[in-house]
Amino acid sequence: MPKYLLTGGAGFIGSNLVRHILATRPDVELVNLDALTYAGSLANLQDVLSHPRHHFIHGDITDRALVRQWLAGVDCVLHLAAESHVDRSILDASAFIRTNVEGTQILLDAAREVRVRRFLHVSTDEVYGSLGAEGRFTESTPLAPNSPYAASKAAAELLARAAFHTHGLPVLITRCGNNYGPHQHPEKFIPLVISNALSGQAIPVYGTGANVRNWIHVHDHAAGLLAVLDHGEPGMAYNLSSDDELDNLTLARKLLSIAGAPESLLRFVPDRPGHDFRYSLDSSLARTRLSWSPRIALAEGLESTVAWYRDHSEWIRQVRNPEFNRYYQSQYASRLEHAAKTV
Ligand code: NAD
Ligand code: TYD
Repeated sequence: MPKYLLTGGAGFIGSNLVRHILATRPDVELVNLDALTYAGSLANLQDVLSHPRHHFIHGDITDRALVRQWLAGVDCVLHLAAESHVDRSILDASAFIRTNVEGTQILLDAAREVRVRRFLHVSTDEVYGSLGAEGRFTESTPLAPNSPYAASKAAAELLARAAFHTHGLPVLITRCGNNYGPHQHPEKFIPLVISNALSGQAIPVYGTGANVRNWIHVHDHAAGLLAVLDHGEPGMAYNLSSDDELDNLTLARKLLSIAGAPESLLRFVPDRPGHDFRYSLDSSLARTRLSWSPRIALAEGLESTVAWYRDHSEWIRQVRNPEFNRYYQSQYASRLEHAAKTV
């Protein structure tokens, strides 16, 4: 039975990928290694925790002995574990260096020792930096990360690239746009807008809300990751994206309309320092070479995502816990004091 080691499988994308693999690959045994930081939760895995082919291991990717232990007999590594929030990296970058950079190197070293068949490194479009109103990032766009988060992800993927070139580790790199869907932590924009809308709280929109993101449903991303794992060429990087680009204000208004909440909740707050203006990916390489393409239209995806949060108020309550409230206060209290109403 092929064995995959997935890191970060209690987080947003990881938990969706765990479910996707268990449902679509009946012959695969999954070891899911996750440190359960503030961003990871067993509540994201409730329905699959006792699945016979899913083994959840509570552990840290920077623990070399533990990583070696769980890599024994593994064919493929799917490396998603990371500190993933730009705003937190602005407050303190140290955990980003430890997990994203050091943790990745530890996994690469251990994967080389056991000679895994494939090492899928999940990176991000943010490694490319920022675009103006025109143009798209292709896989040959030079890396120019702007936030501490993006810089740590660029460092991680360069280490992965080096493991391929120097040691012949069969590394595949993916760079995806902004994901949305069920189980996303409400520190991120879409679940923040939805959960605040559902509870009638003010919604912080950075700057003028003109920044643009290229959104993809997490289920489409999960399918893209497996397409790269199966058919990608080692040493290559693949962009994964939909064609849905939207500025933040338009997106927030759409979400409010779906949630049936008033636009008067929106507040323009002081901008994120160094806020990348626009991300847009050209994913024609993955679409033509790997027979993958995203299937979920944005309108449909936003509807089902709002419905998921509406139906999971207990999950929201667990994740918006006292630790999250402390973060929320430090991140937004003074910003909201200086906020301008948008309507
Ligand atoms: P997330 O923050 O929801 O989940 C990260 C998971 O990693 C959590 O479960 C956390 O507990 C775990 N983790 C953190 N540090 C760890 C450590 N030291 N050891 C073991 N586990 C640890 O993140 P996400 O949004 O699911 O992103 C997953 C991956 O995809 C990340 O590598 C991220 O950079 C990348 N990515 C995310 C997006 C997006 O829009 N969310 C887009 C492109 C790429
Ligand atoms: P986010 O979900 O943090 O993802 P990323 O910064 O990785 O793209 O933010 C998405 C967009 O939403 C980004 O342009 C920043 C903006 N944003 C706000 O306007 N207000 C907020 O409270 C947050 C968290 C994000």
